[in-house]
Formats: sequence, structure tokens, C-alpha cells
Amino acid sequence: MRASRPAGRRVNAAPPADRAAPRVTPSEARLPKLDNLTLSRKEGWKQFVEASPRIRPEQLSPVQLRALGEGARADYDKARRIWHANLGPIKTPQLAALHEDLWDIIDSNLQDGDKAKGAVAIDAFPGLGKTTSVLAFARQYHRREFAAEGDYTTHGHERWPVCRVGLTGNTGMKDFNRALLEFFGHPGRFKGTTTQFGDRVLDCVLSCEVRLLIVDDLHFLKWRHTNGVEVSNHFKHIANEFPVTLILIGVGLAQRGLFSEGNSYADAVLAQTGRRTTRLGMEPFRIDTDEGRDAWRQLLLAVEQRVVLANKAPGMLAGELSDYLFARSTGHIGSLMTLINRGCQRAVRTGTEHLTAELLDTVKCDAASEAARRELEAALTSGRLTTKTTKINSRRKNKPSANMSGSGKRTGGAMRTAPRTVT
Ligand SMILES: Nc1ncnc2c1ncn2[C@@H]1O[C@H](COP(=O)(O)OP(=O)(O)OP(=O)(O)O)[C@@H](O)[C@H]1O
Ligand SMILES: [Mg+2]
Repeated sequence: MRASRPAGRRVNAAPPADRAAPRVTPSEARLPKLDNLTLSRKEGWKQFVEASPRIRPEQLSPVQLRALGEGARADYDKARRIWHANLGPIKTPQLAALHEDLWDIIDSNLQDGDKAKGAVAIDAFPGLGKTTSVLAFARQYHRREFAAEGDYTTHGHERWPVCRVGLTGNTGMKDFNRALLEFFGHPGRFKGTTTQFGDRVLDCVLSCEVRLLIVDDLHFLKWRHTNGVEVSNHFKHIANEFPVTLILIGVGLAQRGLFSEGNSYADAVLAQTGRRTTRLGMEPFRIDTDEGRDAWRQLLLAVEQRVVLANKAPGMLAGELSDYLFARSTGHIGSLMTLINRGCQRAVRTGTEHLTAELLDTVKCDAASEAARRELEAALTSGRLTTKTTKINSRRKNKPSANMSGSGKRTGGAMRTAPRTVT
């Protein structure tokens, strides 16, 4: 067990009159890791669903930061490291629109058992927030079902409204069923035939009243090999037999033939799944319209609000760095969040406590965005492109829009250019 530090050095000690103490983050230790392994078991999923929101470390001024003792400073910086590495999920227009569509589809999927349920495929490029958005949705859905129906089913089984599996390199049907059994911690997950595994899965799904089955990284499936056809048939079987809505997530699912009719047997089998599947996409941020530029600005304002650096000033990201950040991330939220996270770690480590283009230039980002960066930079520098809106409401110049809590405003389809609210 960790020895406790003298109270005077702890971050959560009562603050001396001359300085504010950074806010306590005792819940950090209990927050679940959001990795695939944790989420592949029901206990990990429950932890994720029930975790209370992270507590933002207190914003200290440079003077207050300097006044911290060594121990308190170490605790404060650690809290900031964790905080900056987990800044989301932000309610981007893409996330909000996807959630709206998912609620529509799932809540309309209440047909009786003999009718096949529609499936959803979220098909978009990497790093656009597919997994993040779906997990945030599934978390809300789980909580809603628990609140409405209780922890146990009428037959006394544990209720698990959501089951999530991630595919890996070479998933066949038996592996897929095993992964589902693994989620439930079923004792029969080690031995059995594919059919037996399938029967056990059905049993779990029915007993635990699963309503949402999420299959992430579907592109790992070798579609046109025997495994792919097998699993695709299996999805059809699930849609027919199981009272669940399937949410399939992957990259390039359309190109892999999930929605096409095709000529071969394999194509036809895939098409059968495709016919029952609603395709939703996620788009990167765009700056070719005022609406798009405003959404970008709102995102930066929301990120800026979350960043905890002593020298941060209003407009640090949304004003001075708007073009720069767009060029570096090419409008992909995954690249942007990586850059901000790494930039903040460096700003804390080096003591600059502020994000600038010079500092971010020293931070490496993912290879794909680095490759696209030069071209965009040239366009932005020459004025052919800009991230600045022509009409910015002066009242919300340096603040994210008022609707921060995102109280369920209808935002339209996930593929459409999204409206402005980012929370
Ligand atoms: N709404 C959001 N708010 C904050 N950060 C986000 C949001 N969406 C995505 N991110 C960030 O972008 C990163 C990539 O997101 P995510 O893993 O959800 O993308 P993906 O589309 O599932 O990518 P892949 O296809 O590689 O699985 C996340 O690690 C997260 O940091
Ligand atoms: Mg993903």
C-alpha cells in the first residue's frame, strides 16, 4: 500500500490563504481505462458506464503555480497529464448528429421477435471519432435502460442492455462467438463447437435482455474469405433471431462490399446484410463554408476551455492557432486531440504553460495528417483558404456557444454538414 504523504504536501490539503489548492482528483484512480481489453468484459463495461465524469484540475495562475510546494506541484502536474490525455468526448456536431440518428433507429427497432431488426453500419475514415461517439451513445443507452427497467430482468438475470466486441486480425465465426461469450464471462467459452458457442450466446443475449450489440473494427474481417461470408451470414442470423440492434463500426465498409449487390455468392450474402443496414458516416471538419468554419471554431473554443495551462489566454486556440491547427489536423478530430494532448504535456514539462505554433511545431502528430499538412498550409498562407468566419457573433467571440449542455437539439443526419453547437 502507498504510504500517505504529510498532509501539508498533498494537493487536496486545505489551501494556505495565499494560494488556491488544485482540485482533488481522488476519483482518477478509480476511473476505468478505456482500452479494448477492459471494454471486452461486462465488468469493464459497467465500470465505464458508471464512472463519474473526470474532475477538471483547477485553473491556477502563474503565481499560484509557482507557490505550490514540490509534492503539490507533482500531484497537480500528474492530474493535468491525465486530464489532457482524456479531454473528450466533446459534443461535436458529428457526434451529436450520429447520436440523433442512433436514437431514431434504436427506438424504432422495437418490433416483435419474429421481425428482423435493422442494423446500423458506421463507416468512416480512421480517427474521426466513430468508436468514441458510439461508446458515448451506448453509455447513455445503458443508463437509460437501467433507469427504466432496473438492474435485473423479471426472471432475475443481470440486465446487460449493451454488449460490445472488437474484432481483431483474423476473426472467424467461432472467434466472434467466443468474444461474445467472453463479454459475459460465460464458463462455456473455452470448449465447444461453433454452434454450441452460438447457442450459448443466444442464451446470454436473451437472459440478459441485450438490446444493442456493437461490433467495432469490422474491417478486420476477411470479407470475401470463408470467414467473412460465415460471419456475414451470422450477422443476418443475429438480426433475425436476436432481439438486438446491431451497430457495426469500421473503415471502408462500402468499398469492402457491405452495401453492394455484386454477382458472386459472397457478394450476395454481404448484400443481404447490407440491405438491412443503415449506413451512417462521420465527416472531418471542413472550412469551405461559413457553417463549417464556425463548427471548427466552436470545437477549438470547447477544447480551449478544457485545457488547463497557467498562461492560457482567451483565443489561444480559436484565434491565433485556428489555421495552424486545421492544417496540422486536416480537420480530423483524432489528429487534433493528439496534437493538443502532446502540446499540453510539453507546455507543462517545459514550463511555457501556453500553446503556440512554435511549441506545437516541435510536437509530432500522426503520419497521415503530416503528409496532408503542407498542401493545406500553402493554401491557408496564400489566403486561398481560411478557417475564419466572415460573420462571427461578437457576443460569443471567445466562448463556445451557449447550448453547452447540448440538451437534445435536433441536429440532422450524421452525413450532413453539422450545425454549430460544440460542447
Ligand atoms: N467527440 C470527441 N471529443 C474529443 N475527442 C475525440 C472525439 N472523438 C474522437 N476524439 C479523439 O480522437 C481519437 C480517435 O477517435 P476514435 O478512436 O473514436 O476514432 P475512430 O473513428 O474509431 O478511429 P479508428 O477507425 O482508427 O478506430 C480518440 O482517441 C479521441 O482522443
Ligand atoms: Mg475505432
